[in-house]
Parts: sequence; structure tokens; C-alpha cells
Amino acid sequence: MTYNVGYIVGSLSRDSINRRLALALRHLAPVELDLVEIPIDALPLYNRDHDASYPSAAEEFKDAITSVDAILFITPEYNRSIPGVLKNAIDWASRPRGSSVLDGKPAAMIGTSPGSISTAVAQQHLKTILAYANMPVLGQPEAYIQFTQGLTDEEGTVTVPSTAQFLSEYMEAFLAHIRHHVPAPQAK
Ligand code: FNR
Repeated sequence: MTYNVGYIVGSLSRDSINRRLALALRHLAPVELDLVEIPIDALPLYNRDHDASYPSAAEEFKDAITSVDAILFITPEYNRSIPGVLKNAIDWASRPRGSSVLDGKPAAMIGTSPGSISTAVAQQHLKTILAYANMPVLGQPEAYIQFTQGLTDEEGTVTVPSTAQFLSEYMEAFLAHIRHHVPAPQAK
């Protein structure tokens, strides 16, 4: 069975290293995982005054999340937390109260930065947010990828064999996590 995974990149940068990591993960994911990006760049700033009637960009964003089996967050760290654009997207997905599209949806997180502890602190914050959103989050392995020059080429191929191996194992673990939470349809 193939699972649809929506990935959300927590960076709007044209040259985002996290989007390059996303490309690498698409190459390395097991065949059972079909990865498609759920963009967040068209979302306005969340304001609860919109709860009565969401703007179309936010409706489309929520529909995109509803249509997938699981969510992969691929995010930079900004000032030892998650970027505001990612928090904004999560806020849209979680409201109006009682109609969150995150509730119960399996998730995983990964991120890259040039720093030696990479995105570790941002991911701790993201775990707190996703726990409140009631998303079952993959606990192990953790994935804090230090971005070094040439880690991936332009096509998103990982050039360091040990990193490619780790990322493949990470995606296998995510597949097992999804299988645990999204039962395969029963044969009739
Ligand atoms: C950063 N950067 C950063 N890196 C890090 O490891 N920890 C941090 O707390 C921060 N804080 C931070 C704040 C802001 C406002 C910016 C713009 C950058 C550096 C960051 O890792 C680097 O710019 C990455 O390239 C960002 O990822 P994308 O946008 O290239 O995917």
C-alpha cells in the first residue's frame, strides 16, 4: 500500500537548504511513500476573525492536509525556535476550534542548519506544539542534519554516503510509524 505524505517546508527562502533536504528525502524515501509538498507561502497571517469564513488559501491548505495520510515537517531553526511562517501555518490548520485537520494525523520532523546542533532546539518546540495538536509524532530516530557545503547536489542527491544511509533509515522509520497509525484497508 502507498501512503500519501504531505511535507511542509518551514522556509519561504528561494534557496532554502531545507527544501533541498526535502528533495533529497523524496529520492531516498521507500516506494510506499508518495511525498508531495504542501506550500505555506500563500497563507496570510492567522487572525481568529477569519474563523467564521476562512480565506481560500487557508481552505486549500487545510484541504491539502486532509487529503494526505501523514505530515512531514522539514524546518529550519530561527532564533532557537521554529520560523513564524511555520507556526502561522499550524495555527491555520488547527482552527476553527473543533475542526483542526491535524488531530490524530501521524507526523515526523526533520531539519537542517549550518549550526553544530542543527535544528535541535526548534524541534523541541515543534514537538510541544504538535503534542497539543494531538498529532502522533515519530520519536526515533531524531534527525538534526548539519548542512555542510556540498551535502546535496543541485538535483537533491546526497553526496555523503553515511548521511544518505541515515536519511533512508529515517524515512523507513516514518513508514513504520504511519503504518502503525493508518491501518491498511481491509480486503473485501
Ligand atoms: C537563522 N539561522 C539559525 N540557525 C540555527 O541553527 N539556529 C538558529 O537559531 C538560527 N536562527 C536564525 C534566525 C534567522 C532569522 C535566520 C534568517 C537564520 C541560520 C539558518 O539555519 C540558515 O539561514 C538556514 O539556511 C535557514 O534554512 P533555509 O531557509 O535555508 O531552509
